[in-house]
Amino acid sequence: MGGNGSTAPTKRSSCRSSSFYLFALLITSLFFFFAYPSHRPFENPAGSEQPVLFSGDLRDATIPWNKLCFGSSTLEKLKLAVFSKKWPVQGAAPGGMERHAFTLYSALAAMGHEVHVYTAPSDNRRPHPDVVRGTLHVHFVPNDSGSLNLSLAVQSSRRDARDKPFDYVHTESVSLPPWRARTMTAPDVAVTWHGIWYESMHSTLLEDLLWEPRGPSGSDPFLREAMPRLVDEIRFFPSYANHICISDSAGDALVNVYGIPPRNVHVILNGVDHTRFVHDPAAGIRFRNKHGVPSNDNATTLVMGVAGRLVRDKGHPLLYEAFSTIAARHPSVLLLVAGDGPWAKRYEELRPRVRVLGPLGPAELSDFYNAVDVFVNPTVRPQGLDLTLIEAMHCGKPLVTTNFPSIKGTVVVNGGLGYLHSPNVRSLVEAMEAAVRDGREALRRKGEACRAHARSMFTATKMAASYERFFLCMKNKKYCWYPLPTDC
Ligand SMILES: *[C@@H]1O[C@H](CO)[C@@H](O)[C@H](O)[C@H]1NC(C)=O
Ligand SMILES: *[C@@H]1O[C@H](CO)[C@@H](O)[C@H](O)[C@H]1NC(C)=O
Ligand SMILES: *[C@@H]1O[C@H](CO)[C@@H](O)[C@H](O)[C@H]1NC(C)=O
Repeated sequence: MGGNGSTAPTKRSSCRSSSFYLFALLITSLFFFFAYPSHRPFENPAGSEQPVLFSGDLRDATIPWNKLCFGSSTLEKLKLAVFSKKWPVQGAAPGGMERHAFTLYSALAAMGHEVHVYTAPSDNRRPHPDVVRGTLHVHFVPNDSGSLNLSLAVQSSRRDARDKPFDYVHTESVSLPPWRARTMTAPDVAVTWHGIWYESMHSTLLEDLLWEPRGPSGSDPFLREAMPRLVDEIRFFPSYANHICISDSAGDALVNVYGIPPRNVHVILNGVDHTRFVHDPAAGIRFRNKHGVPSNDNATTLVMGVAGRLVRDKGHPLLYEAFSTIAARHPSVLLLVAGDGPWAKRYEELRPRVRVLGPLGPAELSDFYNAVDVFVNPTVRPQGLDLTLIEAMHCGKPLVTTNFPSIKGTVVVNGGLGYLHSPNVRSLVEAMEAAVRDGREALRRKGEACRAHARSMFTATKMAASYERFFLCMKNKKYCWYPLPTDC
């Protein structure tokens, strides 16, 4: 301990007050999530494709827009400005947010809308010429270190608006920062949140408890910064006119915790290209043969799979321990591990019951999902929604995954779609045990339900149709009505 007597008490009291705030926040969250579990009318039973009925002004819809069926895109052509930190280019593996941007704006342009994206290339090792594909214009405006140069981006957008103004401005998270959004009033700015600090608070808390179970509480700098960051966010969020969330629970938090008027909060889920992730049992068998995994016809073998970056945040320390237990109890259960990262080495210790496959290309990934009986994703990060969950569902696989509000409220919405566990080893073992006990036939049936749920909610076409309708509605109120005669 230092001789500086004046700082110690301050530190201790700030520690104490931050623990108090964390505690208060936890209680508040519990209250909100239990008192108002959701403002959704009801869940789609067993993920059936039966449409959920809604009629009225879409701005009052509290269900994801993806659940609705929007008709033809010939209503009116839009001109949109988009700010996105990165845009995927050849030679760099894109992250979730970039893939979302690429899928969405390519689709909107394919519908005939004029879309201008102000962004930086995901690979900044060399300059990239702007992309012009039909009505999609990607303007690369990086600064010297390869990030988006905001003043160049805004200048460039002003130039593009000279002949004909934009109908609406959209930003992926804070690519267009709040202070800039505040100054742009005509047109308004909508923002899509790929994760909010409220969810990060949750993961910060969890990770501190998980990785430092006996550690001095409050020693984690993230934990100490978490509350002020949340307060910041709550203060600056109203700078944006409209908010789009990618999960039901983030939408609930924006209304219940951040105090954004419900009319300005909309849920549009991310979709994946369902023509790339398809249910294909034959591809699954080929994949198993190629990797020397017993084929599906051996009724006693059950194959679990996990994919993604093999890092701590994705819950690999939990899965490593949980699977060691499962492997000891059930000699015929295997685990396939796809991906790269520090935990690959640890999994190697569990050979031959665990097969570490390394990173897989996009085409192989679909075959991988088809090769497993159940997909496991024990993530300890509740922000956003992990696309691997949705990809596995499209391939007809049930899930074993963490019971975070975003997952429970949007993905595994009932027991017919998989098994939820709390973020700890004991609970994960129980969930995996339940899957083993149910057996392959039950898993196959759940997988069918997953596929139907994914098809009804998480396709790129549904996502694009929802965004299109959102921008139309923002431009002209007559498009806010649902259903229109043109809707299906
Ligand atoms: C952005 O670009 C302008 C014009 O090239 C330059 O003057 C400015 O320094 C850049 N800003 C950053 C943060 O790189
Ligand atoms: C580029 O922009 C990023 C993000 O705005 C900033 O952190 C960085 O300092 C900038 N780099 C240069 C060289 O201007
Ligand atoms: C099925 O797999 C189990 C364990 O992997 C093995 O003991 C058994 O002999 C296999 N049965 C057949 C029919 O291949």
